[in-house]
Amino acid sequence: MVTTVKDVAPVAMITRDGSRIIIDDALLGETIMQVATRHGVAGIAGECGGAMMCATCHIYDLSTAGTFSSPSDVEEEVLEGVTGERRANSRLSCQLVVGATASAIELQIPVE
Ligand code: FES
Repeated sequence: MVTTVKDVAPVAMITRDGSRIIIDDALLGETIMQVATRHGVAGIAGECGGAMMCATCHIYDLSTAGTFSSPSDVEEEVLEGVTGERRANSRLSCQLVVGATASAIELQIPVE
């Protein structure tokens, strides 16, 4: 089955200055870290390339419950080392995979 970009929900992000941006070219299977770095979103560096070693992809997930899979134990451990405020909805954006979903994807970049 071929999945087109139209099957992927737009990605909304609240940036560090409080602006809300919409990214509408996320690809199925791409991570939110990849989407953000591809667009040069300030605050998402993704230094380890998604290997869960750097926590420079820390983000707050405001999406509808169930949009992304739950964090693994390793992700929870890495989140202990984030530089911004850790919240209940803190995630590593390199672990948030864009899926074919009708749910709204909404995220917020932490302020350091
Ligand atoms: S990119 Fe390094 S932990 Fe996500």
